[in-house]
Amino acid sequence: MEPKKLQDLDLNGKRVFVRADLDVPIVEKVNVFVPSETYRLEVLKDTVNYCISKQAAEVVIVGHMGRPTPEDQNNTKFSTQSLIPSLEKILGCGIVYRKIDEKAPINGVTMLENIRFYEGEEKNDPEFAKTLASIADVYVNEAFAVSHREHASIVGVPKLLPHGLGIWHQKEIENLSKAFENPQRPLVVLISGIKDDKIGYAKAFEEFADKILIGGKLPDLMQIDKSIRDYSETEKVLVANLTIDKFDITVNSIDRFKEEIFKAKTIILAGVLGKYEEEGHDQGTREVFGAVARAKAFKIVGGGDSLAAIEKYELKADFNWTSVGGGAMLEFLTKKTLPGIEALK
Ligand code: 3PG
Repeated sequence: MEPKKLQDLDLNGKRVFVRADLDVPIVEKVNVFVPSETYRLEVLKDTVNYCISKQAAEVVIVGHMGRPTPEDQNNTKFSTQSLIPSLEKILGCGIVYRKIDEKAPINGVTMLENIRFYEGEEKNDPEFAKTLASIADVYVNEAFAVSHREHASIVGVPKLLPHGLGIWHQKEIENLSKAFENPQRPLVVLISGIKDDKIGYAKAFEEFADKILIGGKLPDLMQIDKSIRDYSETEKVLVANLTIDKFDITVNSIDRFKEEIFKAKTIILAGVLGKYEEEGHDQGTREVFGAVARAKAFKIVGGGDSLAAIEKYELKADFNWTSVGGGAMLEFLTKKTLPGIEALK
């Protein structure tokens, strides 16, 4: 069964709940937090414009930023309010900041507070899903990057409202599916970055990939966590050695990774190799990403930090598909679906 689409919904006069990917890297500039990279915000444009063109009464943009703890409630670093100026520029319209307890439509485009400030979100609490559903008439999932999470705004709200996939989300499915429908081989996947839970995808790729390259923080995690020792180096899995300060991979590992990359016909790149944003720890990311960009293969890249890195090194044009998803992309490629997609069937 196919998931429903935004284009299948009647939006005229309706309040539209758009679950969006707002989890962008944030930097502090003269006491104000601003996004340092806005790709995930840019891809919202088609869906928001479509809703406006179909005379929606209100487009409520809902999303999370980072992984805030209860103590972070007043930390402006986690406030979606800091995204409003950038998003206004991208969408070319004003955005009103709104509260969850305002039930009446606020005409135009609005932005809800960081959804992860509410503990019912990650617990997928049915009561919280009801509260969220009460602020809108229809639900749109334009948050591919978090659709691997069974959270209230991803799987709870669509149970309660007419629903559909956003326009960008539809493109993610179409383009990423090319990697598992008869991929050209060898297929190399690079799993890297700072999020511990990504390591689980190494196992999932064992059947499907010809080579799995592991870098970033993950080799260190594999040393510490005995439960994941199974993924240590085999003929199929290459685990990078880290520099002494652990902020990058070694030159020798860079060379071994490049060798595999240049043999590949399909490459999936998910995660930066080190603390690439700091000079002195960027060699792994710069060289490995550069090698992928030059490789003659079908190339996919995804994830927040990877997007920021390809922007920094101006490599976007060298990829066949630039996904907003990191963990979500890896999960979609191995399971061919996500909980957020299933919820719309
Ligand atoms: C991401 O950046 O990959 C998504 O926003 C998901 O974030 P999470 O790993 O904190 O759930």
